Amino acid sequence: MRIVNAESISYRRDTAMGFPTHRARRLRRTATLRRLVAETRPTVDGLMLPLFVVPGTGVANPIASMPGVAQLSVDRLVEECREASDLGIPAVILFGIPEHKDAYGSAAWSDGGVVPRAIRAIKEAVPDLLVATDVCLCEYTDHGHCGVIEKGEVQNDPTLALLVKEALAHARAGADLVAPSDMMDGRVGAIRAGLDAEGFVDVPIMAYAAKYASAFYGPFRDAAQSTPQFGDRRGYQMDPANAREALREVALDVEEGADIVMVKPALAYLDVIAKVRAAVDVPVAAYAVSGEYAMIKAAAAAGMLDEERAMLESHTAIVRAGAGIVLTYFAKALARRLGR
Ligand code: PBG
Repeated sequence: MRIVNAESISYRRDTAMGFPTHRARRLRRTATLRRLVAETRPTVDGLMLPLFVVPGTGVANPIASMPGVAQLSVDRLVEECREASDLGIPAVILFGIPEHKDAYGSAAWSDGGVVPRAIRAIKEAVPDLLVATDVCLCEYTDHGHCGVIEKGEVQNDPTLALLVKEALAHARAGADLVAPSDMMDGRVGAIRAGLDAEGFVDVPIMAYAAKYASAFYGPFRDAAQSTPQFGDRRGYQMDPANAREALREVALDVEEGADIVMVKPALAYLDVIAKVRAAVDVPVAAYAVSGEYAMIKAAAAAGMLDEERAMLESHTAIVRAGAGIVLTYFAKALARRLGR
């Protein structure tokens, strides 16, 4: 039996058969080459850090299901914002947990509420940091749903007026951007009209346009104490089976005046991010939600994967899919890693 040596094989391939002319591995050999040819280059510029604000002073309540994330009182929140800004993070998005919850979520539109207070304090201490706010009632209602309940169901149209009041309270306090996350029909148009009528024509709206009814919001609901007390959100958030419907939601929101559209969650909906990016020309954001964060944190803590690499890989994938803005609880860690 003839023994073929390796040298003769490579000789035959290179000359007689002309193979391999294309060696895809050539550009992968060193870190420098890989850096030079990378197609996706995430930067700190597109990062938005979600923050949970609670009443009181000196409060930092760790959230068990989100290691490294805490509910913060305004004073501690300002420190966190300063740190984020020093790391080069351009924006934060605020979620409020009020003193009192009621059936209508009235704390949501109080000018003295926890979010307006936080906005004023941040704008004073860190004026260049962009302050966005989540506009939704679920953190403020005692039933945990994102709107007014009648006959056991969330009522769309009566909810709109309350969302407008909430967005206005945020704008009056100095919010740079409002982000409705409730998934009521027509809320972008209603909020735009409400803002314009009070002179806030320059406050942009980032619509949670394609927001899915997702199991990945679990840890957030601990953080925001907003778990629905009955039923679930499938009657207003989108069905994970649908991507074409996301394009319709996005088109409606853009038509109603959304300046930025968001897809949420991110990792399980990369196809939706890519489709939305191809369909519209407004900036596209994606929300890497609490469960995506918790998944990586828990697996890393159990020694099952490398946290830093898993974080970077997932984030790169979200940017590669087409998100120019990424809301992520990893924002500070990413900023440290990506540099300015
Ligand atoms: C409020 C809201 C939710 C999230 C953002 N805004 C929760 C929900 O819809 O139940 C989830 C964010 C996260 O999981 O990180 N409606």
